[in-house]
Amino acid sequence: MSDTVIHVENLGKKYIIGHQQDNERYNTLRDVLANQARSLNRSLNPFKSHSSLPTANTPSTEEFWALKDVSFEIKQGDRVGIIGRNGAGKSTLLKILSRITEPTEGRIKIKGRVASLLEVGTGFHPELTGRENIFLNGAILGMSKVEITHKFDEIVDFAEVEKFLDTPVKRYSSGMYVRLAFAVAAHLEPEILIVDEVLAVGDVQFQKKCLGKMEDVAKEGRTVIFVSHNLGTVQALCSRGVLLMQGTVLADDTADVAVSTYLKNLEQASFQNLLKRTDRQGKGHLRLAQIEISTGGNHPSLTLSTGFSAVFTFHVTGIRQGLSCCFTIYDQYGQAVTYFNSAAHSQDDMTNPQQETKFICEIEELLLLPGRYRINAAIMCDGEYQDDVKGAVFFDVEQGNLRGRPVSSETGYGNTILPHRWLIPG
Ligand SMILES: Nc1ncnc2c1ncn2[C@@H]1O[C@H](COP(=O)(O)OP(=O)(O)OP(=O)(O)O)[C@@H](O)[C@H]1O
Ligand SMILES: [Mg+2]
Repeated sequence: MSDTVIHVENLGKKYIIGHQQDNERYNTLRDVLANQARSLNRSLNPFKSHSSLPTANTPSTEEFWALKDVSFEIKQGDRVGIIGRNGAGKSTLLKILSRITEPTEGRIKIKGRVASLLEVGTGFHPELTGRENIFLNGAILGMSKVEITHKFDEIVDFAEVEKFLDTPVKRYSSGMYVRLAFAVAAHLEPEILIVDEVLAVGDVQFQKKCLGKMEDVAKEGRTVIFVSHNLGTVQALCSRGVLLMQGTVLADDTADVAVSTYLKNLEQASFQNLLKRTDRQGKGHLRLAQIEISTGGNHPSLTLSTGFSAVFTFHVTGIRQGLSCCFTIYDQYGQAVTYFNSAAHSQDDMTNPQQETKFICEIEELLLLPGRYRINAAIMCDGEYQDDVKGAVFFDVEQGNLRGRPVSSETGYGNTILPHRWLIPG
């Protein structure tokens, strides 16, 4: 149909684990070109290619389909959120749509200029300055120098990097880098804007600005494809949601339906032994082994009550100097409610050498309203994620009372309650 801008048919991407990995980790345009040159060289000189390249038949390799039989159509002006657990294939799909990597099978047809903002590190040439990169990216998008100059000030303004315009981008902080990369992708008037999760890197104010800009881009009738683990944002921004699971499409529906299907799917995963889950990120030298929730007694319970105590225990596979534990509680609508971090110390914290491999977080008075909640949990060491599991555990909060005040489950407003008192006339 005429307003279809992306048509994806039976798309599949196979990786050969063990050997191909490094070959596939090209990100920048320069790497893509170098890689294409290499494969051209290989086809011109088959003997050389056979001697230097491992093949799928090498006994130590294993085939792995990161995407399989993926088909969908995207229409002009669609705002599509792609969601799914870690490793579901989201970034792989975006890389294929951005032509950074080739599909192993299937076909894609794209109508219009694509600007993509993939993981940090893509799109820009590290040795070139911010200014040069803006022009380079514009040129790649097929814009003339005059057109780019016309947009230049707006981009610099949006990215707030004026002072560093003539600094090579390799000297930028990751926040600055992403700000400029986003500004370039969003302002160079692409017909299709593809954004992968990078918003997580910027500060909250900048994230809001980006979301606003993406809304503007969408309102202008352009197409936006957005990968995020922030379900609230996906629901707010996207009209449609595509849920990927182990490389296949599990749901393609409204954003709300896709998110609720995802949460059900995630909840099922949370019944699994935590150590067996593969949908996790981080270095993995140490891992979260188990999470227990209780009301403070000896028995675990996945049901807590408003106003009463709650204890969250995180078992890890080992302890190391500098290891910390953090977790975020999300409500059933996907909104983050509150965040805990053992590295942000309070004088009430205690260390207990007999505790061995557990981080215990005690809450005296749970200020959550009745409902269903989930936890994303992570452990970090020296500023690096060791392990990070989304939807690691789900729990319910039942009606309780807060300092004697009954807490109703029926308000339908928000997810927290604050201790308070009323002064009432008469
Ligand atoms: N270059 C590669 N070589 C081998 N395997 C890869 C490569 N890139 C990705 N994979 C694997 O393909 C699967 C899909 O990866 P992808 O990055 O697309 O997942 P994702 O949905 O974006 O996950 P996340 O939410 O963690 O970003 C994962 O199992 C990943 O380990
Ligand atoms: Mg990804």
